Amino acid sequence: MPGGARSSPPCRPLKDNATLNLYARSGLKIVMPYVSRLFIKTGIAYLVLTFVAGAVLLSLEAAGRPVPYMIEIEHGHAGFVGWLVNTVIGVAYWLLPVNRARFAETQGRYPEGRARFSFYALNVGLALRLLSEPWFTRQPSPAGSAFLYLAALLQVLGIAAFASIAWQRVFPPPLRPDI
Ligand code: HEM
Repeated sequence: MPGGARSSPPCRPLKDNATLNLYARSGLKIVMPYVSRLFIKTGIAYLVLTFVAGAVLLSLEAAGRPVPYMIEIEHGHAGFVGWLVNTVIGVAYWLLPVNRARFAETQGRYPEGRARFSFYALNVGLALRLLSEPWFTRQPSPAGSAFLYLAALLQVLGIAAFASIAWQRVFPPPLRPDI
């Protein structure tokens, strides 16, 4: 090597197969936690659903047919709550800094039960809304209104459960004792 200089190996992208194999062999794992996967895959399903509903709405428009207002509302909620909110929560549970002092039992991520509750409450609430709102607006009934109350309550509880965890995973770095 000229002048005895050692050339450093070229940088490789973090996620090529060789690097991942190296991580696996050395015991380091890149693992997306279960609750994150639940949220993100549900988000992907809603993304597809939203696009299909959007395509139907657009086709109705193109055909000069009236676009049912309620389907627009459903499409909007599937897109924003179903796709966007689910995806953001899934990524946040995965990537926000861990708080080992607060959630020691899961290496700092979250209390497993509360995180799962946030998923089921939000998504059962959303599904209940999407299914019962068109039915209720066409034909108001005590049962329909009970479903909508429940849908509202579940979604708020789900988000509150998420917020209570995320809040504790946003904090400044600890001060170094030597400064
Ligand atoms: C994640 C992606 C999407 C989100 C979050 C989203 C969100 C929304 C929202 C909030 C509305 C308004 C609903 C209202 O007026 O109350 C809407 C309307 C609409 N969207 Fe989407 N949308 C998405 C993707 C799409 C796609 C891919 C298409 C077409 C293929 C589409 C076609 C439409 C149509 C035709 C309307 C009705 C417009 C009108 O007549 O007022 N959307 N969307």
